[in-house]
Amino acid sequence: MAEAGLHNVVLQGKNRPGSDDTDGDDFMVAKKSMAFHPNPWEDPAAALASSRHEFGEHGGVNMSIEASATFTVMEPETMRRMFAGELGPDRDFFIYSRHFNPTVLNLSRQMAALEGTEAAYCTSSGMSAISSVLLQLCSSGGHVVASRWLYGGTHALLTHFLPRACNITTTIAHDKGVKVVVDNTFAPMVLSPARLGADVVVHSISKYISGGADVIAGAVCGPASLVNSMMDLHQGALMLLGPTMNAKVAFELSERLPHLGLRMKEHCHRALVYATRMKNWA
Ligand SMILES: Cc1ncc(COP(=O)(O)O)c(C=O)c1O
Repeated sequence: MAEAGLHNVVLQGKNRPGSDDTDGDDFMVAKKSMAFHPNPWEDPAAALASSRHEFGEHGGVNMSIEASATFTVMEPETMRRMFAGELGPDRDFFIYSRHFNPTVLNLSRQMAALEGTEAAYCTSSGMSAISSVLLQLCSSGGHVVASRWLYGGTHALLTHFLPRACNITTTIAHDKGVKVVVDNTFAPMVLSPARLGADVVVHSISKYISGGADVIAGAVCGPASLVNSMMDLHQGALMLLGPTMNAKVAFELSERLPHLGLRMKEHCHRALVYATRMKNWA
């Protein structure tokens, strides 16, 4: 994984078929890409609009869906370097889609741009994003300090599941000097917790980001070091617990993100109308 972060990684030459040449950039000419370096302080809409755009395999304006579970590796030495972490998705080397998948990675880059984080990775649900982050940040005997105002599933995870399964306990209180994880499910683009100092942002994409009440999905947005550690082949919570997003779902969602800003404006407008009516009736 490039240290520059997932959302401004430039993918280079393709490693198939017939050769695992890691230096060439002459293969897959149709796979155009543009690299941008969004300022994490710009507003979410601008950051999203300027995030890297992936074109389709045949030059299509939309990216192709990489529906493969597993990927070809032509040279044994390349396999060794991939497992040693020397070659990775930043150079277009993929092993297996529970680890990294190009289509899911594309959506993840969009999520990182949206939240102003160095990196992100999308998961099969909001709960899997939340539980994986907590399991990656805490060890057995660890302690979580949480707000009282939590989504019910997260509350149950903290008060019942994690204490029983992992000896991780929770205090519903406020403290300092700890990693701050914020669930931004209900305020994407309206509020940017990472731009305001949070360490990690989690999402249930199943709500406003999806917008159609037809998909269950989630995301973890945070420093590249955290996302990389979650994808580690030996210690990564996402890699080893396997809450993997399907590439077809990732493609579907990445087509919806460009109009999230317009939808959020309308949601805010409707919420204001509703609140005003409630106030007038009171
Ligand atoms: C604020 C919030 N966070 C997390 C979740 C869990 O997300 P999912 O249902 O995608 O697992 C929900 C689901 O309702 C939610 O409302």
